[in-house]
Amino acid sequence: MELELDRVTKQYGNKTACDRISITFQKGVYGLLGANGAGKTTLIRMICGVLAPTSGTISFNKIDVSHEDYRDALGYLPQEFGYYPEFSALDFLLYIAALKGVPKPQAKEKAWELLKQVSLEKDARKRIKTFSGGMKQRLGIAQSMLNNPQILILDEPTAGLDPKERIHFRNMISCLGEDRIVLLSTHIVSDIEHIAGTILVMKDGSLIHQGTRNEIISAIDGKVWECTLSQSDAIDICKKYPVINLRQESAGMVFLRLISEEKPCAEAFIAQATLEDLYLYYFSEGSEQ
Ligand SMILES: Nc1ncnc2c1ncn2[C@@H]1O[C@H](COP(=O)(O)OP(=O)(O)O)[C@@H](O)[C@H]1O
Ligand SMILES: [Mg+2]
Repeated sequence: MELELDRVTKQYGNKTACDRISITFQKGVYGLLGANGAGKTTLIRMICGVLAPTSGTISFNKIDVSHEDYRDALGYLPQEFGYYPEFSALDFLLYIAALKGVPKPQAKEKAWELLKQVSLEKDARKRIKTFSGGMKQRLGIAQSMLNNPQILILDEPTAGLDPKERIHFRNMISCLGEDRIVLLSTHIVSDIEHIAGTILVMKDGSLIHQGTRNEIISAIDGKVWECTLSQSDAIDICKKYPVINLRQESAGMVFLRLISEEKPCAEAFIAQATLEDLYLYYFSEGSEQ
């Protein structure tokens, strides 16, 4: 099972939304991490064949993205997904199954199987307009799984979920990644930190990191420092280094967490680098990294 992107590029006029992206996906969960505007949705829409690349190629087991067989292997939950509020969850799935050309008896069986898998079995006959954000997203995943896809693509599926729903969601994604390629985009580190075998970090249309969590973190290993300084010393340090975290302490002191190649000041201690550090390093406001 191999989904291959070779120098995939998308240009909107002068704007390069995706710049020569090359990735080879195999079975497992992939987390596509990047701030708003990084190019995640553009990349995903090209992988799903709804947007043509300006240049570059996308293929699954050597089958081109434009081929019908590719479509059959794909499940997709778009970022803006339209539900039918008056439909029940079950009717909605049967409706989408009909659109996808799944035969009726088979559709019914598959719909119930999926409702069970996303823990909506008891809510199958309730109208979607009564659902919470998390329930809607789970239903969205169920519809993307109707054709039992080998590639499952979810664009910002955790948007609007509360912390409890997020945990439920993460567990579900882990299971789905056991026998297929799952790609999910997010701008929230904790959504993918512990479930994605491979993390892809995208910034300004480019893939700036790809690898396991530890591989990616190693880029800033030994460069994360913490210190507690007086207000005026803190101001000086803030001018010199990218600051990841700043907290006012008692007696006018300031706690700083920052990135620096070398020890930034006598008071500084090395801290354990995290994926959150890396993310903030690249994406905090005014960041020029
Ligand atoms: N149809 C479009 N026409 C012009 N620019 C676009 C279009 N879609 C997206 N963009 C621009 O491309 C960049 C990437 O957008 P997008 O792929 O939606 O990023 P993300 O999903 O990471 O937020 C943004 O700067 C966005 O404004
Ligand atoms: Mg997007």
